[in-house]
Formats: sequence, C-alpha cells, structure tokens
Amino acid sequence: ASMADQEARFRASVAAIGSVSAERRRTPDRQPAGTSFDNTTDADPALPEVRAWARERVRAQPAPLTSPVLRTTAEVDAVVARGRAAQPGWSTRPPAERAALLRRAADELEARRGELLTLMVAEGGKTIEQADPEVSEAVDFARYYADRALELEPGASLHTDGARFTPHVLTLVTPPWNFPVAIPIGGVLAALAAGSAVVIKPAPAVPGCTETAVAALHAAGVPGDVVQVVRAAENEVGQGLVAHDGVDAVVLTGAADTAELFCSWRTGRPAGPRVLGETSGKNALVITPAADYDLAVADLVKSAFGHSGQKCSAASIAILVGSAGRSERLMRQLVDAVRSLRVGWPTGLAATMGPVIEPPTGKLRRALTTLEPGEHWLVEPRQLDGTGRLWSPGLKDGVAPGSFLHLTECFGPVLGIMRAETLEEAIELQNATAYGLTGGLHSLDEEEIDRWLERVEVGNAYVNRHITGAIVQRQSFGGWKSSAVGPGAKAGGPNYVAQLGEWAMDGLPV
Ligand code: SER
Repeated sequence: ASMADQEARFRASVAAIGSVSAERRRTPDRQPAGTSFDNTTDADPALPEVRAWARERVRAQPAPLTSPVLRTTAEVDAVVARGRAAQPGWSTRPPAERAALLRRAADELEARRGELLTLMVAEGGKTIEQADPEVSEAVDFARYYADRALELEPGASLHTDGARFTPHVLTLVTPPWNFPVAIPIGGVLAALAAGSAVVIKPAPAVPGCTETAVAALHAAGVPGDVVQVVRAAENEVGQGLVAHDGVDAVVLTGAADTAELFCSWRTGRPAGPRVLGETSGKNALVITPAADYDLAVADLVKSAFGHSGQKCSAASIAILVGSAGRSERLMRQLVDAVRSLRVGWPTGLAATMGPVIEPPTGKLRRALTTLEPGEHWLVEPRQLDGTGRLWSPGLKDGVAPGSFLHLTECFGPVLGIMRAETLEEAIELQNATAYGLTGGLHSLDEEEIDRWLERVEVGNAYVNRHITGAIVQRQSFGGWKSSAVGPGAKAGGPNYVAQLGEWAMDGLPV
C-alpha cells in the first residue's frame, strides 16, 4: 500500500469510529533495546506458591453470584439514580482521602489473589500463568490511579494553569471477558480516582471475577452506592443502560463494532457520546535477520498463544524480513515451540494453553479451518474434544498481503506468517490494517529499531519483548486508528484519570 493509501485508510477509519487524540500518535511507548526482556509481572516470584495454593483450591465451587440482574427500565433508572445520588458524597471527599481508599483497595485485591485466580480459571478459562499477572495489574492500577487522584487536588500540578476539574457524575464501565479482573477494575478505579460514581456491567461470561474484585473495593471502604455491579437480563436492558441520560460517560473495552454501536446509541448528546473505548487490534511482530531468534520465537509464541490468542494485544501475524524468512532454523524453532504448547482445561493446571471462550464461529472458525490462496499449514489446528472449545494452536505460512488473515482480527490461537524483503516493506504490511494497537520488533540493530519506531502506527510499540501484558505506568496501554474511540488517553498512563471529567477555566471549557 502506498503512503497515500495508508493515509486515506487511516483518515477513513478515524472518521468512521471517532477521533483519536494527537497525544496517542506522538507517544508510542518506547523502550530502549535490550532492557525489556524480563520486566514483566509474570516473572512474579510468588508464582510457585500461587500454583500450589491454586492446586488445592481450583476445583472448589465458586460462591453464588450476588449482583442484581436488571430486567426493566425502572430498575435501570433506579440504579442510575442511586449512583448519581451517591456521587457528591464521594467527589467532595478530599482527593487524598480517595487516594488512601484506593491504596487500601490495592491491599484488599492482593488479599483476594487466590479467590480471583480460581474465578478466572473457572469462569474465564484462563491458565494460572495468565491469570496471576492480571491480579498484579489490578493492584498496580489501584496504586497508580491513587497517585493520579492527588493530581486533581486544587493547587496540584494539573491545576497550575488555573483550570478546574469536575468529574463525571456517573461512569458506566463495560469490560470484556478476556481480562475479567484487570480491565473491569482498572476502569472502576480510574473513575473513582476522578471522583465519579460507577456502575459496572461485567461481561456475561465472567461476572464472579468482577463481583469479587469490586467486593475488595467495598471492603476497603468505597461505599456500595458509589460502585454498583449489575447484570442485564437481556441486550435491550444493557442498551438502556448504555444510552441512559444519567450516564455521563461509558468506559468500554471491547470490539470496534461494539464501540460503534455504543456511539450510535449515545449520539445527539450535547457533550457528545462520551464513549472512551479501547477496541480491536490486528497486531504483528516483525523479526529481522538482526534478531536473536531464540528470544524472538519465545516472545512470538507467548504473544500469539497466551490466553489462546484472545487478547486485543495478541500477535496474529509474524513478518519475517529478508534472510529471516528463509532461515530453516527459525522456522524449525517456531514449529517446535508451537507444537510444544500443552493444550487443556486449566483446572488441570498442566495446560500451557486453555480453551477459547466459546465454540468458534465466523472469523475465528474461518481462520482455524480454512486456507486462503497461497497459504499452507505448518501446524494445523485440531478440535480436541466434544465441547468445541478446546483447539490446538495453528501456524499458517504464506499469508498474502491484503488477505483475510493479514487484515482481520480473529481473536484465537492462529498465527500467520508473512515475508518482506526489507524492513520498510515489513512496516508497510504492519501498518496496512485499520487498527493500531500493539506491534513488535525483534532486532538487535539500533538503527533498525529507530527506523521502526519512527514509522510503526501503533499505540504500544514493543522492542525485543512480547507484545502483550502492558505494565501499568511503564507501558500505558492504548491504540490509535480504529483501535480507539474518544479522547484517547491510555490506560495505566498519566492522563487516563484526568479525562473522566470536564476541565474549565473561568467557566469556559478548556
Ligand atoms: N492490557 C492488555 C495487554 O497489554 C490487553 O488488554 O495485553
């Protein structure tokens, strides 16, 4: 694709789905080469103990759900009214007091680590290795957003120009099922830090995870009316909540189509739809001949098959540059690594890759079961049991530019291989999608790294590291192009909390 084509595609996708802040374009997370190999929470030293604990507990019956199921418009109205009535009591507490409560919430979340893990395994099909860093992330969000709350104090840094912050009264958080603790609780904590009341509607597959995480907040002293967990009996009820006039903003993490739908439900509001969305991704990892292939393969497999590829940040395309694309050693290592994944139900605790959330249909079924022109299987995926949810991983070679797998987010355990003669060509392939969430480069060549960072169109650009598992504060998370909706500050980054309200100077918006 020419630069002009890319530019046109970028503009069209932005126009279609909402605006993306300039900040996001200009500040991809840059990491110096060589510093980022093992700086992830999943190198958590507590993991062996966590596994031992989980082995005892993972088959225990989860506690019954407690959040109300809303069935009628009147019930939706009542929840919204309750949240709005509670908010002044929350927002008028000094930010330092809110921050102290969030820090206590971090401790309460930590104290429930085991409970949260078992729920993520039971409800979400996560392996312990995938679930454990998610608790760490939730804890990190609580501490980090507590600090951001302090910046909203009159006289603090964000106020030095005289601007005044007024939080949204009620924020609705609608998280996805794939990160059933960190994403829901991150949204809730950010809104609380801003001084907003919150209603959270967990993804239907994983409500227990959210209930337990929110229980930690309540145990820390956040009033029950300030954060309410609700479920919806049917889609119309959920729509009523999203579109409700008493909901000032919606924090959505989910598919780009969902974001579009939410925006359409909320158009016509004087202040705009106020949907803050992290949406889809179609992410590639580039490997050049200057890469350390051992590391590249490990990071690629982790990025593609962690949580069975069900992450908006996952790698679903590998782009091999020049002689890397002809390296038999690299291909053999990659095939071996994919074959060595142990697929199974995570309650068995032996699996390194668990199930997909539901029997694949649509795009994922197509990716798992069909070959497009020019493609062949290096490792063919198989359905492993009668549930339809357990699939061995797939590795496809010969993915063509502009093809289905190149451009479509499929959200499952399939990795496609593409080839490029030069790094420039690889970057063009990487940038050709409508999305711009994560991307990776494996190269030990400083000059290649600079060139790639300069041109890659993603929110989170990772060098010599896997491309999932962003770390709060260190790699604030979010994309551009069709991967984002709304004002666009990144989760776990400096401006996320401050976008959950209005800024005004002398009564005028800033
Ligand atoms: N924050 C997650 C990651 O970085 C995705 O939501 O993988």
